[in-house]
Amino acid sequence: MRTPSHTLIQFSDVHVVPEGTLLHGSVDTLANLETALAEVEQAEVRPTALLFTGDLADAGDPASYRRLRAAVEPAAARIGAPALFGMGNHDAREAFREGLLGEEPTDLVRDFVAEFDGLRVIMLDTSEPGQHHGDLTPAQLDWLRDLLAEPAAHGTILALHHPPIPSPLEVLELLTLRPHAELAELVRDSDVKLIVAGHAHHATCGVLGGVPVWVAPATAYGADVLAPAGLIRGYTGGGYTRIDVYADGATATFVPIGRGAPVYELDAETLRRYLAEHLPTQG
Ligand SMILES: [Fe+2]
Ligand SMILES: [Fe+2]
Repeated sequence: MRTPSHTLIQFSDVHVVPEGTLLHGSVDTLANLETALAEVEQAEVRPTALLFTGDLADAGDPASYRRLRAAVEPAAARIGAPALFGMGNHDAREAFREGLLGEEPTDLVRDFVAEFDGLRVIMLDTSEPGQHHGDLTPAQLDWLRDLLAEPAAHGTILALHHPPIPSPLEVLELLTLRPHAELAELVRDSDVKLIVAGHAHHATCGVLGGVPVWVAPATAYGADVLAPAGLIRGYTGGGYTRIDVYADGATATFVPIGRGAPVYELDAETLRRYLAEHLPTQG
């Protein structure tokens, strides 16, 4: 049996507001996240870290970040996993630092790296103040190049807000990450096992420089990928991602927020008997 060395939980596009709900009352974005956090807390899996890939406050205001922090900090403590916060196009660096991190409110680019028992997580800040598309500066790419020159024992998960792969939605294709080719060359033949992004509000997988790319669903609400050309449409319902890291790669698994009605459940004894009957015999 293949067992992951690390499991991470990714939340993206939380879009918290200072109070109440978003989009004329149709979405309680904080409640969505709180439901997702409670599901993780109640699960048996013990994640290494909680990864937040941007668009954390819908309007980038300090009150929303404080509200988010008040929800995440105690939940992360109960889960026993640190929360890693990345920037998105709806975020504002000063308020993000002040309200969410309790740091000095500077507008410096917020890239960072964290390591957990040999697994490296690199978070890139692809936000461009006042813009909705994403970009990386030559200095950021140099920083990433230097980091990747030294592999980590269990490899790297590279996280960023703007997807470095196409979107089926025209508007998102216009507002995606700019320098694809250079990033692709950096991750090619590196120890990056998986690139995870957000921004799109729809789950998508792809590839960049030979590395799998996962575009996470939003916890806040979803984008209709079958909407007619020229129209963008959102709908209620969100999700998050379970990331499992193995010796030879990593997987990303969609988790819907809120479960449907149960259709089956086997207890341990029934499952043991089932496997005994159906597994091929050795030898
Ligand atoms: Fe978003
Ligand atoms: Fe975004």
